[in-house]
Amino acid sequence: MKILVIGSGGREHALVWSFDRSEQVNTIFCANGNAGISEIAECIDVSPVDVDGLVKFAVENEIDLTFVGGETSLALGIVDKFESKGLKVIGLSQKATQLESSKAFAKDFMARHKIPTAKYRVVESTQEAVETLNSGHFGDENSPVVVKADGLAAGKGVVVAANRKEALDAINSMVIGELIDADAAKKIVLEECLVGKEVSLIMFADGKNFALMPPTRDHKRIGEGDTGANTGGMGTITDTGFLTKSETNKIINEIIKPTLKGCEDEGFPFKGILFLGLMMTEDGAKVLEYNVRFGDPETQAILVNLETDLVDICEAIHNQNLDNTLIEWKEGSSACVILAAENYPKSPRKGDVIEGLDEANKHENVVIFHAGTSKDDEGNIITSGGRVLAVTAIASNLSNALHRAYKAVNEIKWEGMQYRRDIGR
Ligand code: AMP
Ligand code: GLY
Repeated sequence: MKILVIGSGGREHALVWSFDRSEQVNTIFCANGNAGISEIAECIDVSPVDVDGLVKFAVENEIDLTFVGGETSLALGIVDKFESKGLKVIGLSQKATQLESSKAFAKDFMARHKIPTAKYRVVESTQEAVETLNSGHFGDENSPVVVKADGLAAGKGVVVAANRKEALDAINSMVIGELIDADAAKKIVLEECLVGKEVSLIMFADGKNFALMPPTRDHKRIGEGDTGANTGGMGTITDTGFLTKSETNKIINEIIKPTLKGCEDEGFPFKGILFLGLMMTEDGAKVLEYNVRFGDPETQAILVNLETDLVDICEAIHNQNLDNTLIEWKEGSSACVILAAENYPKSPRKGDVIEGLDEANKHENVVIFHAGTSKDDEGNIITSGGRVLAVTAIASNLSNALHRAYKAVNEIKWEGMQYRRDIGR
């Protein structure tokens, strides 16, 4: 088979790595990849947002299966375009992608289908936001409230405000385009602040059936002890112990089944990857967000555990027979530590030579996925983005997985490299 993976980060490296392990796969292309991906796939110079260019490439090169990594391509309707040309593609339709690309759409969807989530109000102007907050809908001026830009904002569109003043400041900076692209803040979702432990549950879905992956936990802040700016994610751990059997069953019945049925009833079957961001509150699990794709760096920590051929799973999603497909995972846990460039997440420093990769790669049960890397003229691997490497390890338990990952991290260095030493703790 010829495979095309769309995207260029650590998530896409993990996808390419998984496809590379399949005996059914001959050639993998990646649009547009990075230095790590280029060692196992042919990187093509077509942007993940150039939908027409990607369709043309897939047709001309007779691609058998395309996997779309990120939400930006999905929101552009890439899956609908591929399907209209008869191309086999894994990812959500543009309509279903609204569950991620519009937080207001997602909240209204959850309300229609009685899916547990935080109480909310959608506002369309600063004036309306002020009125809603002053009406006491989310408590008094000292109550926390969560402010979310409606549109895609690469993880930067959510502010958990400690009080009303902080909430208004966040709304103002979103609306004037200071925090994020102002277009994403044309509508704003105000939400009750939930308390509990967060867990992410990602699954394969074929429109009717689903297959859960191991639950994961992300570390979104740049600083140790969960301080500082939000990032795309500084590390992830997987462990089946994050959810008990009865919690999982409740999530299936109260959240997953109603979500899949709701999508089907509303005419946009959910075929692809469903990512639930959950808060485990005293009243049970509530949905913080839907994503319609694999997470980054969740994917890296998840796919190192996958025993089943990813091509077979993609075929099952395509043929809508996930219910008849056995998907096997390694027992135990995994950990992924992100190594980032200096000044990430603001404007990361680029172009530094990365040392120690070969030594780190020799560690057993460790896989180093590349995110923001490229090669210089002399063939050195250099930094070229904010999140640079995802050092991922598996072991029989979480503490060993973390130990392995950090031992490999110790081999790697470049000028300005930063990472959190408290992943998993
Ligand atoms: P989201 O992109 O919607 O998942 O939000 C990003 C982060 O903001 C989440 O991972 C939570 O840590 C936090 N968050 C979002 N919504 C809420 C909420 N209603 N209550 C408390 N924290 C929240
Ligand atoms: N790591 C969070 C995400 O991919 O959305």
